[in-house]
Amino acid sequence: PHIPVICVDGPTASGKGTLASEVARRLGYHYLDSGALYRITGLAATRAGLVLDEAHEHSIAKLAGSLDIVFSTAGRVLLSGQDVTDAIRTEEAGMNASRVSALPAVRTALVALQQGFRRLPGLVADGRDMGTVIFPDAQLKVYLTASAAQRAERRHKQLISKGISATLAALRADLEARDHRDSSRAVAPLKPAEDALLLDNSGQTVEESVAQVLRWWEEKQ
Ligand code: C5P
Repeated sequence: PHIPVICVDGPTASGKGTLASEVARRLGYHYLDSGALYRITGLAATRAGLVLDEAHEHSIAKLAGSLDIVFSTAGRVLLSGQDVTDAIRTEEAGMNASRVSALPAVRTALVALQQGFRRLPGLVADGRDMGTVIFPDAQLKVYLTASAAQRAERRHKQLISKGISATLAALRADLEARDHRDSSRAVAPLKPAEDALLLDNSGQTVEESVAQVLRWWEEKQ
């Protein structure tokens, strides 16, 4: 429990991954992309022919508890040895992740796996409930937000740069739907931890947000 953890929680496309992985790199800490675990669970469940709702909650939870996942140092994600890095990044995979993540048994099945990433010299973890549920004793909790318009625009740029076409309006509708589901679910809803520091990065560069978090971290030492 004394191993340092920095949590970065917030809504879809707020830039958590970019911020958290860069802070981890600067500090030489491990990095946990908890959303990837839900995305992989959604993908594995879909491939197993399961329906992503309560009807198959226990089968999906069982699957989640036995996933063979490797985050390679080259930034690839392997599921049972197969590269699923791109497959889990589609909008559909995000929506499926949001569906399986609303199932309490699935969330429970992933707790120990996530906590296992807390190793020396430290961890930066990003997601929705890192500070509220998974690492409640974290030394620093950041709740990252940005306007829906900004978030849709960022996601749009990301997809275009990967050669994937998408309209801004559809993306915004998608992320608002996902935020709504993530915030209104009964278990571990998206909301700032009571002791979280709020960071609105609308109009901020990545470097500015990184510098802010590193300053907060230094102040805690
Ligand atoms: O962060 P990312 O967009 O990859 O997360 C995908 C989905 O996984 C989210 O919309 C959310 O429903 C779910 N999630 C979660 N708890 C986390 C991380 C992600 O419920 N800690």
